[in-house]
Amino acid sequence: MTDAAMPEEPKPSKKIANQYERGYDYTQYWNDRDYENAAEQIAIRRLLGTRRFRHAADIGGGFGRLCLLLSEYADKVTLAEPALSQLEAAKNVLKDTDVEQIQMQADRLLFDDGSLDLITMVRVMHHIPEPSEEFAEISRVLAEGGVAIIEVANYGHFVNRMKHKRAKKPLPIEPVNIRSDNPDEPDAIAFVNHNIDTVLGQLREAGLVLDEKLSVSNLRSQKLKKVLPEKVMLAIEKATQKLLARKNFGPSIFLKLKKA
Ligand SMILES: C[S@@+](CC[C@H](N)C(=O)[O-])C[C@H]1O[C@@H](n2cnc3c(N)ncnc32)[C@H](O)[C@@H]1O
Repeated sequence: MTDAAMPEEPKPSKKIANQYERGYDYTQYWNDRDYENAAEQIAIRRLLGTRRFRHAADIGGGFGRLCLLLSEYADKVTLAEPALSQLEAAKNVLKDTDVEQIQMQADRLLFDDGSLDLITMVRVMHHIPEPSEEFAEISRVLAEGGVAIIEVANYGHFVNRMKHKRAKKPLPIEPVNIRSDNPDEPDAIAFVNHNIDTVLGQLREAGLVLDEKLSVSNLRSQKLKKVLPEKVMLAIEKATQKLLARKNFGPSIFLKLKKA
């Protein structure tokens, strides 16, 4: 083969995205979050409807929490995750499945152009303050007619919106740092909440346009969890995800996107 015919090697990333390897057991995070887990699954199912897919990938999929759900919709599923510790945990979670597991990060996706017809990226955007490179990659690997579902940690949720209204301050358009502690390492992972309209603009620039939007985990509150049975919480969640999306009410906004 001549050099000209060789496939191009992906360029190494300048970003560090494997911080979850640093002794953090993310599986424990879900111990008392059945409501949030179920709310996200309700949203994904609603956005996917009855459609069947060829090849799905969950980007930044962690230990594979959502891969089993994706397997119900796609012939092939890939867990794409930068942290080896997560991939190690995934071996157990996905041991009885044929979900493929590959180490990669969102700004350097190891998929061919247009090779995926379903992409999900959930609970990853709060680690990516400036997501243009990641969106360009998602757009590159998404097939024409394919679906991308990107979950965004929403700064402008109801409580913050009221706070800003009272203070007569507009909502920021830039991502807001939500770290409560001081990072102990110079390359510590970012924790941000986003302005949904800013993110939609960044997606448009990458060639991805909004098809549908859902407001998710609308009742995320320790107090409510104590007084309302989970069944009731989820019934309310189901009934409100679409309605409340108009005002970006909840802490988590699910965007269903297609190629422009
Ligand atoms: C909060 S966990 C969410 C995991 C999974 N998506 C879920 O919802 O269960 C965040 C995940 O994003 C991964 N991550 C962080 N930065 C990333 C990046 N730039 N590209 C891809 N994944 C990233 C982390 O390694 C971690 O597994």
